[in-house]
Amino acid sequence: MARILITSAIPYINGIKHLGNLIGSQLPADLYARYQRGRGNEVMFLCATDEHGTPAELAAAKAEKPVAEFCAEMHGVQLDIANRFGLSFDHFGRSSSDQNKKLTQHFAGKLDEAGLIREVSEKQVYSNTDGRFLPDRYIEGTCPNCGYERARGDQCENCTKQLDPTDLIEPRSAISGSTDLEVRETKHLYLRQSAMKDQLDAWIDSKTDWPILTTSIAKKWLHDGDGLRDRGITRDLDWGVPVKKGDQDWPGMEGKVFYVWFDAPIEYIACTKEWADANGKADAEWERWWRTDKGADDVRYVQFMGKDNVPFHTLSFPATILGSGETWKMVDHLKSFNYLNYDGGQFSTSQGRGVFMDQALDLLPADYWRWWLLSHAPESSDSEFTWENFQQSVNKDLADVLGNFVSRITKFCRSKFGEVVPEGGAYGERENALISELTRRIRAYEGFMEAMEVRKSAQELRAIWVAGNEYLQAAAPWSTFKEDPEQAAAQVRLGLNLIRLYAVLSAPFIPNASARMLSAMNTLATDWPDDVDAALNALPADHAFTVPEVLFAKITDEQREDWQTRFAGTRA
Ligand code: 2FM
Ligand code: ZN
Repeated sequence: MARILITSAIPYINGIKHLGNLIGSQLPADLYARYQRGRGNEVMFLCATDEHGTPAELAAAKAEKPVAEFCAEMHGVQLDIANRFGLSFDHFGRSSSDQNKKLTQHFAGKLDEAGLIREVSEKQVYSNTDGRFLPDRYIEGTCPNCGYERARGDQCENCTKQLDPTDLIEPRSAISGSTDLEVRETKHLYLRQSAMKDQLDAWIDSKTDWPILTTSIAKKWLHDGDGLRDRGITRDLDWGVPVKKGDQDWPGMEGKVFYVWFDAPIEYIACTKEWADANGKADAEWERWWRTDKGADDVRYVQFMGKDNVPFHTLSFPATILGSGETWKMVDHLKSFNYLNYDGGQFSTSQGRGVFMDQALDLLPADYWRWWLLSHAPESSDSEFTWENFQQSVNKDLADVLGNFVSRITKFCRSKFGEVVPEGGAYGERENALISELTRRIRAYEGFMEAMEVRKSAQELRAIWVAGNEYLQAAAPWSTFKEDPEQAAAQVRLGLNLIRLYAVLSAPFIPNASARMLSAMNTLATDWPDDVDAALNALPADHAFTVPEVLFAKITDEQREDWQTRFAGTRA
């Protein structure tokens, strides 16, 4: 049994995620976790909310709530939606946890001991009215480049120029609007990533099986211009992990916190301790996933994320881990995704454009969305959600191909043999041909799933469903029954066994439908079909079953048009 550690990029706390976020990391990570569990491997699948930084603070201010309260509440909301989408995390943690605070401070202390942290004195805008520094988005003013009056401290939205808060003309606080600002000196800690360039380069070179998207982004940042600049890892904010070296104060750093991108990936590890603590397990239980001297040397660690997160995971986080000089497990495979677009434009959280996870579940159960998103995952390029395409995939793949197969065979059996697997007859040439085809296709499906080729896996699974339909069409037990009821019994027996087989194979994509298929087949047998012949004999003659309710309803044109109109604008 292999041991597989899987993490999904942790979503910002500031709001409910849209479908583009979902297919960018959490959903494909869940597909892989479910598949690996289905193969009998030991899996630890983790995700969390990313709760620090300016996005969290600004969202809390907008909601008029204290930031800690806002985060606690939104964590509950995101957890509930994740559950309803069938995301099977072993733990859904919080980057603001005590475990993460301690571990982040621990890493900072180790990096400092290794001489990899330097102190830098910088000039930053300070608001006398607000009594605080105004980093990044906390400051607005006129763009020196194009004259746009509402440019933010980090970037002008109008001309896209990257800015520093001190570049703005007539700057004002985004919190109070106050112009009583001054430039003050402030000290920050920088991680000396540049000192680790060769080590990171060698490490990335050793990852020969990474997807091109991942390696090309990593290499670009490593070699292009200012790619591997030392990074500021602290901020003048209230909300975040207080700057300390281990449990010691850091002279001169009082009142400062670590930058959100420093503590967020450390939460992957801290989350595992949260899991252990929440389940009354000893530290050894989480350390065997993360410390190579405590059992993690035989763990395979896979990360899932959108392409914008790749630099942080291939350079900054590895720099933190390598730089600590400790025995931490590093990522083995990093699967990254392009963007999913929405109906001719982009999904946008800030503009409320597209379909958000809660809205999606108000329209249809999770499996409909899971199937469409996974079968259209933006792997080799960006992909696009359109309502027409969604309707077509659901109606064809789920309703016509899979749903119809299940309904036809169970109903036919009930009408001729009752609700039990019929006995008599034997599998012949046609059945053996099907078994060979399925064996070949299931081995291909396994290969794609192992390689995290999400779209190809979906295509292969669909082809497996189609093979069953074609068999049923050709065998036509409803005709056979008239001349040779024994043979029809064998055909129907095979069909019922196919339903169980499909449930097992499809569970990573459509877990709820799979559970309903298994329950209709009245079985708990979910062993992986290493031997397809045996798998198609798993339900013996006389085994009772029930005809399930319609597995997938078709999307009507009226529904599609209604949704198209409702989701054409932006969410309030
Ligand atoms: O881009 C994002 O949504 C970030 N919150 C991802 C963080 S992933 C990790 F580093 F924890
Ligand atoms: Zn501008």
